[in-house]
Amino acid sequence: MSRTVGLVGARGHTGRELIRLLAGRPDMALSFASSRAMAGEAVSGLAPEAPKGLVFEALGPEDTAARGADAVILALPNGAAGEYANAIIAARPETVIVDLSADHRFDEGWAYGLPELQGRERLTGVRRIANPGCYATAGQLAIHPLRDRLAGPAHVFGVSGHSGAGTMPSRKNDPEALKDNLMPYALSGHIHEREMARHLGAGVRFSPHVAEFFRGLTATVQMELSSPVSAQELRGLYEDAYGAEPLVQVMDGIPEIRDGAEINGAVVGGFALSEDGRRVVMVSALDNLLKGAAVQAVQNLALGLGLDEFEGLV
Ligand SMILES: NC(=O)c1ccc[n+]([C@@H]2O[C@H](COP(=O)([O-])OP(=O)(O)OC[C@H]3O[C@@H](n4cnc5c(N)ncnc54)[C@H](OP(=O)(O)O)[C@@H]3O)[C@@H](O)[C@H]2O)c1
Repeated sequence: MSRTVGLVGARGHTGRELIRLLAGRPDMALSFASSRAMAGEAVSGLAPEAPKGLVFEALGPEDTAARGADAVILALPNGAAGEYANAIIAARPETVIVDLSADHRFDEGWAYGLPELQGRERLTGVRRIANPGCYATAGQLAIHPLRDRLAGPAHVFGVSGHSGAGTMPSRKNDPEALKDNLMPYALSGHIHEREMARHLGAGVRFSPHVAEFFRGLTATVQMELSSPVSAQELRGLYEDAYGAEPLVQVMDGIPEIRDGAEINGAVVGGFALSEDGRRVVMVSALDNLLKGAAVQAVQNLALGLGLDEFEGLV
């Protein structure tokens, strides 16, 4: 029997991807889709894969809790997810909640859901899962195998397509402002900088940029090491970490936006090494809406519900 899943924030960029991914899972059924702007409209008008007859509804926190789904995905802007989570936990504490916003990524009461790095045993059967940020996923995948050898903070240069800025109009998703442009922003203290540092347990300096293309991102990461590494050893560290991971591919060349966009997984490569073996540059690429958001949310949802993590994803 499939488990029922409610989606709040369903008309957004990540919501759209989640509707499609849930439709590909025989063990999950989308039972409601919330949007204030599209209330009353057929969900299939936005996402043809949606269950027949499903209509967008404007559901507040208490309405959402009262719907009684086995799991709820919150695909809401930062700051808007907390009150939905609180209402669901108060009314139906057994509900599995996956929050795509940053509202619970620093909350000890929630598991941080990057399965390849946190370990499945820390997510299986867990009811409160904070889904990582898109840049934070790419950066951590690139840094993690070298984390224990870092001599100082890792420097992450990130470039994302403008879907990373959501649908609420801003300069970061304005086609005119982005035309023939690369826009640096939040140059210190970006939430993903703190998120990477906290969950890696290592120093991170992060410089985000947004570009004219719609989807996909790269993270170029500079790392100084406390002891030299050989090219073979370096490659081995990443193969050991990801060789058995269906959603992380270690590649020979340097990943570009196109290598990571519109695929469910992430690509890690680069392997640039200084002559003295003490400086490494790695690059990771992924789709900000997929492994950076919706795919990871479905992995987490499956683990929380005790289902196959990869069904429909690989
Ligand atoms: N875009 C990415 O690449 C990405 C990657 C990783 C994580 N995330 C995170 O995922 C979340 C969703 O991102 P997104 O890009 O999908 O955003 P989005 O495209 O802007 O969509 C936001 C959704 O939330 C609803 N909403 C907005 N304000 C609300 C409020 N106060 N109360 C209830 N509903 C509200 C909107 O629908 P209505 O206004 O119609 O209700 C819409 O469905 C964000 O926290 C974002 O940081 C995004």
